Amino acid sequence: MAESLTITTGLSREKHYQELFPQLVSLVEGESDPIANLANLMAALKQTFGFFWVGIYFVRGEELVLGPFQGPIACTRIAKGKGVCGTAWESQKTILVPDVEKFPGHIACSSESRSEIVVPGFDLSGNVEFVLDVDSDMLDDFSDQDRIHLEMIASLIQKILQRKG
Ligand code: SME
Repeated sequence: MAESLTITTGLSREKHYQELFPQLVSLVEGESDPIANLANLMAALKQTFGFFWVGIYFVRGEELVLGPFQGPIACTRIAKGKGVCGTAWESQKTILVPDVEKFPGHIACSSESRSEIVVPGFDLSGNVEFVLDVDSDMLDDFSDQDRIHLEMIASLIQKILQRKG
């Protein structure tokens, strides 16, 4: 694995994503344990962008259950169709929420979270296996650019989860 993360100061968010992605790939290539890899991916995202909260929820039966994350403690279980995470799972689509107070049913794990993006990830049968949730303490902090790059990162997570040792 890479021994450190290069984060060039002063780059645009787009350039930060471009600098980050190959480092994420090398960060996980020598390690087979998915939890270890996902924990480091969440740390790398937090370290690069300073997002308020970044983490994974895994589909477990009819609920999402909290996985590796960085940020304040969060709710451990979310039902299908509930909150932004449960809605992204149900709709199987990325959901971008510019103002969480305007999203009906938003689950406020922290009152400091103001905007949010949730990206679903799929197993080999095409079923949602996890969601990647990123929260910001700023309003309207996410754009289509974040969607594109976080969907690429969700694809990398899919590969990590599909790897068997
Ligand atoms: N806000 C999310 C819940 C998870 S936390 O933000 C970490 C939601 O509405 O699904």
